Amino acid sequence: MKPTLRHSIALVSFLLIVGIFLVVQTRTGEDLPTWPTSVPAGKIDFKKNVRPLLIINCLECHNNENAPENGNLSLETRKLAMTTGNHAPVLIPGKPDESLLINVLTLDGIHIEAMPPTPDKIWGVRMEILRRWIEEGADWPEDVRLVHPREIEKW
Ligand code: HEC
Repeated sequence: MKPTLRHSIALVSFLLIVGIFLVVQTRTGEDLPTWPTSVPAGKIDFKKNVRPLLIINCLECHNNENAPENGNLSLETRKLAMTTGNHAPVLIPGKPDESLLINVLTLDGIHIEAMPPTPDKIWGVRMEILRRWIEEGADWPEDVRLVHPREIEKW
């Protein structure tokens, strides 16, 4: 085989492999939520901005099954979020400052431990998203039930 031909074959194979790698990467990456790096402009979108945040940070403990060990609070649906908990209601639409759902995260040792603020800035952004969402009325479609992160197959 001529050296130039061998080079071309090597080059084409290389490009093919890189191409396949990039396609696979975008495919798997496309469904995963990414941490917000800034508070979105306009109204907070529950499904896009709040749902992943609650699933990843809270549902591990605050689901129906584990609620009894975790303050009796289940965050599976809006109705449960507004009616369960030892200090219900912990979610008060329009009033983030009175919502334990926000306060507990900055005041309670368990929560500060459970959700290490790494990096700090992103934690700040996530907190701001939660606050704004509650301030704007805590929209959460009735049919959207949150599940334990291990049960998520597709975001
Ligand atoms: C590692 C487990 C764990 C995670 C993760 C967790 N919590 Fe909790 N949560 C607890 C436990 C335990 C309690 C009960 C003791 C307490 O109130 O500190 C509790 C209590 C609460 C309460 C008070 C309920 C009441 O009525 O007394 C709120 C509100 C709350 N959690 C919100 C959240 C939110 C919002 C998230 C996610 C951002 C979250 N928690 C993540 C373990 C967890």
